[in-house]
Amino acid sequence: MPKITFHGHACFDLEHEGHRLVIDPFLSGNPTADVGPDSMRDVTAVILTHGHGDHLGDAIPICKASGAVLVATYELALFCAEQGVERVHPMHIGGSHAFPWGRVKLVPALHGGMVEGDTTGRFTTNPAGVIVTLGTTSVYHAGDTSLTMEMQLLRGQVNVMLCPIGDNFTMGIDDAVRAVEFVQPDIVVPMHYGTFDVIAVDPAEFVQKVGDRARVDILEPGQTLSV
Ligand code: NI
Ligand code: MN
Repeated sequence: MPKITFHGHACFDLEHEGHRLVIDPFLSGNPTADVGPDSMRDVTAVILTHGHGDHLGDAIPICKASGAVLVATYELALFCAEQGVERVHPMHIGGSHAFPWGRVKLVPALHGGMVEGDTTGRFTTNPAGVIVTLGTTSVYHAGDTSLTMEMQLLRGQVNVMLCPIGDNFTMGIDDAVRAVEFVQPDIVVPMHYGTFDVIAVDPAEFVQKVGDRARVDILEPGQTLSV
């Protein structure tokens, strides 16, 4: 089981067998982040779900400082390469790739495709969810998304689901509960709530509504999932 640490909003750090993978490192300007980008000089890979500023975040400077490979959809990876990231690995929805440290698969997410900082409009992309498989554990970071029928295809494939619940830009609590029904993970960790007033929801309501469908672990920024 990888060590899974939450850094606020939608940023998670997965540590496994000497590798450190960071998903959606929105740290600078994130009022809930427990660390800054300087704490991420030793990352192996930065994985992005989409190009919005609260997900792309500090990915480019982190990759430049650490030499980490940036994994994202084709358009977003190309944008980051054009911004000076030396190692990018473009993928696309439905595709998976076995990296030396684990497998990454991009899955559908229904959301907006703008890439923060792209003044040319050439890099608009499909947002994605990401399944990272490390050893025998599969972690599904749903990205920013609505409830989708496609989530039903993930049933039986996910051990830990990182699930947005904040409403307004993504699923709210009731749809997130249905997403848990679709995916049937062992453990679900709520994310993408409380960072800003417009996505302030009570995670205790999510815990109560999920009931016995899955174990729900609420992580505060800086906390690690205990297994
Ligand atoms: Ni977004
Ligand atoms: Mn977002």
